[in-house]
This record gives sequence, C-alpha cells and structure tokens, in this order.
Amino acid sequence: MQVTVSGRAREQERRRAASIAELPYFALRERGDVDWDQAVLQVSRTGLRLKTPGREYHWHPGLLHTRVEAGWTHPLVRAMALAPGDHVLDCTLGLGTDASFLAWLTGVPVTAVELQPALALMANEGLRDAGHAVRVVNADSRTFLASLPDRCFDIVWGDPMFPTGAAVTHSLDLVRHIGCHEPLGLAWLQQARRVARKRVVVRDIANGTLLESMFPDEILHTMRQRPRYGIWFGSDEETCR
Ligand SMILES: C[S@@+](CC[C@H](N)C(=O)[O-])C[C@H]1O[C@@H](n2cnc3c(N)ncnc32)[C@H](O)[C@@H]1O
Repeated sequence: MQVTVSGRAREQERRRAASIAELPYFALRERGDVDWDQAVLQVSRTGLRLKTPGREYHWHPGLLHTRVEAGWTHPLVRAMALAPGDHVLDCTLGLGTDASFLAWLTGVPVTAVELQPALALMANEGLRDAGHAVRVVNADSRTFLASLPDRCFDIVWGDPMFPTGAAVTHSLDLVRHIGCHEPLGLAWLQQARRVARKRVVVRDIANGTLLESMFPDEILHTMRQRPRYGIWFGSDEETCR
C-alpha cells in the first residue's frame, strides 16, 4: 500500500511515513507521485488516515458505548463466561471495539491480532491515544496462535469478517473496506482450542452458516437479527462439566 504525508505535514510526519514505509507491504510516495485511484495511508498532523477514491477513513471506537452500557450482561461476555482477571486473546482486532471493551471489563490488557497492516497501525494509534489497554500485534492469527504455548489465555475470541452484503453497522466501513475476508478455518480453531484454558468463542451473523461448519459445543442465540456466538469449552471447563 502507498504511504504519504498530508499537505501540511511537518518533519515529524515525514519521518513517520518513512518509518512506516520500512515495513513490508508499504511503499513511500511523494504526494505528487501518489496514485489517488488506489488506497493510500496518509500521515497527517492529527494521525493516520486511509484515503480511497471518494472516501477518507480514520480510526474510531465503533459501537463501544453500547457494549459498555450492557457491561456484564452483553451476549459476548455471557458467551465467554468472562470473569474479572481473565486473559483474552482477540484474533480479529478490526477497530478494537471488542478488545477495548473486554480489557475494560476484565481489568487485564487484551492481546489483539490484526492481519491487515494499515488497519493494525490505525487501530494501534487510535486505541493508544484513547487509552485502551490493548496490545496490537500485526500478524495472521492462524500462524500467531501456532506460535503460542498450550493454555496460555483464558479465552480466545474470533470475529471473522461477515459475508459481503450482510447488513452490519456502518461503523465497520473501514474494516469492510480493507479487512481480510478469508475464513479463519478449522486449523485456526484447533490451535485456538489448544491455547484457550476456558473457552473459544466465535461470532456469526444472525442468519449465517459459519458456526454450523465449525461444530461448536454450544451456540448462544441472542435476539432475532442479532449475532450468534459459537462456544467451544476448553480443558478447564470440560473437567468441571
Ligand atoms: C469483523 S472484523 C472484527 C471487528 C472487531 N471485533 C472489532 O471489535 O472491531 C474482522 C477483522 O479480523 C481481521 N482478520 C481476518 N482474518 C484474520 C486473521 N487470520 N488474523 C488476524 N486478523 C484477521 C480482518 O482484517 C478484520 O479487521
């Protein structure tokens, strides 16, 4: 992806753009050399922007306020059987709305993995500036999980990309635009189950078919038109059942 600076950039924005361009995936462009018909990551005085033909995106916290209002009664939290102090690995960071919420509830920083490099940078900057306790890792969670020891998180969370055309909130437009649409797959699930002490939880849209193909131990159905949550019990919970 192209990376450039805004028109009023100072030396510090130029240095930041140059350091981003040292990462694989990015290529530094002078403003005059940018192909504005393609996506470009722009470093400005107010932070990172993704510019695409006809639309500019910046990081925002998504629907965090609605999750915070629901608190411990939120279906995601019930599906996780979350408890204060739980260590959560979020394998699909996106904007980091869920990761921020879970870190706030548990009181423990959440490790969150995002495959798309520009999204990982934008979310990392936004989450840090907003003071959320989320440690962002730019990686493919399928390989990241494989690098972890057994049972090193309480909960492993996956919120894969919804199918194209699904009715989801506009707050996810940035994620929809550049996020990775590949399925997590059964190999991901196998690694997630090895890493989770308590549970693996995966979200699916209300009328989706994803969960049925992944054979969860349980599905938490919420209200009509609301997401469903697939639950796989980890070894700690299996011995208690
Ligand atoms: C539906 S969004 C997640 C939204 C997120 N729960 C939130 O609160 O903002 C899915 C995200 O997962 C990322 N993703 C998809 N496959 C991935 C993988 N294998 N590893 C890491 N991230 C992945 C996508 O790029 C996208 O940003």
